[in-house]
Amino acid sequence: MSDIKRVIKDKRTDLNPIWIMRQAGRYLPEFREIRKKNTDFIKLCLNSNLAAEITLQPLKRFNLDAAIIFSDILILPYGLKQHVEFRKNVGPILGDLNIDQISKITENDFIKRVDPVYKAINLVKNNELTKNKSTIGFVGAPWTLLVYILNKQSPKIKLKENFFADFSLIEKTLKMIDRFLKIHIKNQIDSGADIIQIFDSWAGLLEDKDYNFYIYNPTCSLVEFTKSLNVPVICFPRGIKNYKKYCEIVKPDAICIDYEVDPIKIEKEIKIPVQGGMDPKVLLTDKDNLKKEAIKYLDIFKDHPYIFNLGHGILPETDPSMMDYLVKTIKDY
Ligand code: CP3
Repeated sequence: MSDIKRVIKDKRTDLNPIWIMRQAGRYLPEFREIRKKNTDFIKLCLNSNLAAEITLQPLKRFNLDAAIIFSDILILPYGLKQHVEFRKNVGPILGDLNIDQISKITENDFIKRVDPVYKAINLVKNNELTKNKSTIGFVGAPWTLLVYILNKQSPKIKLKENFFADFSLIEKTLKMIDRFLKIHIKNQIDSGADIIQIFDSWAGLLEDKDYNFYIYNPTCSLVEFTKSLNVPVICFPRGIKNYKKYCEIVKPDAICIDYEVDPIKIEKEIKIPVQGGMDPKVLLTDKDNLKKEAIKYLDIFKDHPYIFNLGHGILPETDPSMMDYLVKTIKDY
């Protein structure tokens, strides 16, 4: 069993495992080298050999406790035949959605389209570098995927004024998302993922009154499903106002926190294993400050099952030597 699983399942507090969101990515020159030659991002995700190689790049450099498969949450709409492309300095742009056409897509159609992701997981799982480590599979949470699928671009740019106008379309789309996310989770597990993380990057956009319908109910459905397959599930509801309530309702096996919340309050209020929290911008400062901030989190959670991670993805401008120093700091604690 990996140390991450020991923390989650056995509630160990004497271990300090670490992995980093977006650990395989643009801050690594060896990733940028591959990316330069592969201009279509989705195609790159669907190249099993390259996706496995990119997934393993950070493990070659740093003593991390998990590999997270190089893929994207938008592989789901791609699998549903919605056009997805990534534009430089803009982010993802999606095509029009035809819900009636999408309703005809079968499980087999979907699996055929995204199968290279499962092959990549299998390659990662069977590589020496992940021995005694976790291989993390992931999905976007239903709400965050609904945002991309219907908004067709990042809400950071703009959330359509009429986003909530067609309730019947929202209901149908959420149903499709639930169905195919379960297929995607199951296949990642069957291919070797031993932990699933659910990314709800846009949880912070909603008001309390909408949480039941858009966040709690659909996420509960996925959490229960993943647990039924005997695999731990970590939830990351970035920007949610009340993490304690979220944990009580959704009941993930571990909760990943963002960098806006007070870790001391979280440690007191939340009984389940915690992951993450440190602001990714700390890696853009200096080593003394990085050490101080990282140790702050380890000290706060020293008697709490805790997995070190950041409060969002590592930034592309991060110097890999800072990541190296961070991992060493955690391992030497
Ligand atoms: O963590 C990892 O290393 C695994 C790979 C991973 C990627 N995306 C690769 C990626 C994971 C877990 C994701 C999740 C993801 N994707 C989320 C949830 C986490 C978060 O950041 O909030 C979201 C919202 C997306 C959608 C997405 N993918 C956006 C908005 C963008 C463009 C902006 C950006 O952050 O880069 C992407 C592109 C993307 N996904 C890249 C990578 C390495 C960069 C692609 C490039 O080289 O241009």
